[in-house]
Amino acid sequence: MRLDKFLADCGCGTRSELKKLIKSGAATVNGSVVRTADFRVDESAAVVELLGKKIEYKKHIYLMLNKPQGVVSATEDNLHRTVTDLVPAEYAHRNLFPIGRLDIDTEGFLILTDDGELSHRLTSPRSHIPKTYIARLAGKISESDIEAFERGITLDDGHVTLPAKLREIGENIAETVIFEGRFHQIKRMFAAVGNKVEYLKRTKIGGLELDEALPLGEMREITPEELERLYER
Ligand code: URA
Repeated sequence: MRLDKFLADCGCGTRSELKKLIKSGAATVNGSVVRTADFRVDESAAVVELLGKKIEYKKHIYLMLNKPQGVVSATEDNLHRTVTDLVPAEYAHRNLFPIGRLDIDTEGFLILTDDGELSHRLTSPRSHIPKTYIARLAGKISESDIEAFERGITLDDGHVTLPAKLREIGENIAETVIFEGRFHQIKRMFAAVGNKVEYLKRTKIGGLELDEALPLGEMREITPEELERLYER
C-alpha cells in the first residue's frame, strides 16, 4: 500500500497533509527517510515512523462501547443521537458501524467496528453466540419461568427461541443468556411469561464481559486477546 494511505488509515492526517509531511522528510520506513507519498509499504511488516513516532497499522478497529440510553444503534438517524456520534475523533476517518442492535432504552456492551466479516460472524443466525443481559423486571421470576426459558419461549410472532438461561440474581433482577438476536428478544421473552422488562443492560458477548470501568457513553479498543473471547460459549 502507498505510504500516504498507510498513514491516513492510521488517522495521522489527510492525504494532502501527509503528502506535505512526507515530502518534508518526516516519515521513515524501516529506518530510512522516505519522501515520496506513493512509496510502497508492506503494512504487515514495515516499521513506519512519523515525526519520530512509531505508527502501528491496524487493518480493522474494534471498539467496546458502554451504550447509554437515548442513543440508537445505527450510523444515521433523523431524530436521535447515534452510537457513531459517540466515536472519538481519532477514529472519525474509519467508517465504524455497530455490530447488531441494542434498543434505544437498552444500555451496555455494543461493538463498533469497520470489520464486516466479524459483524457477519457474530450476527449470522447460525452463529449462536451467547449474549448475556441483566434485566430489572416489574414482576417476580418464578421456577416455571426458568424452565420455560430452558425449553424455549414462543414469541408473539410464533417463533420459538433457542433454549435460554435465566437466573435470578436479585429481587426481580434476572441474568439471561440468549443464543440468537431477534428484535426486542429479551423484552418479548419476558412478556411471553407475563412479566415486563423495566431496565435492560447487555453485559457480555460470547465470553467477553463489558469492562465495568468504562463509563456510560464511552468506548475503548478491544484487545486481540479479548477479540478471541467473543467466540467462547
Ligand atoms: N433484547 C431486547 O429486548 N432489547 C435489546 O436491546 C436487546 C435484546
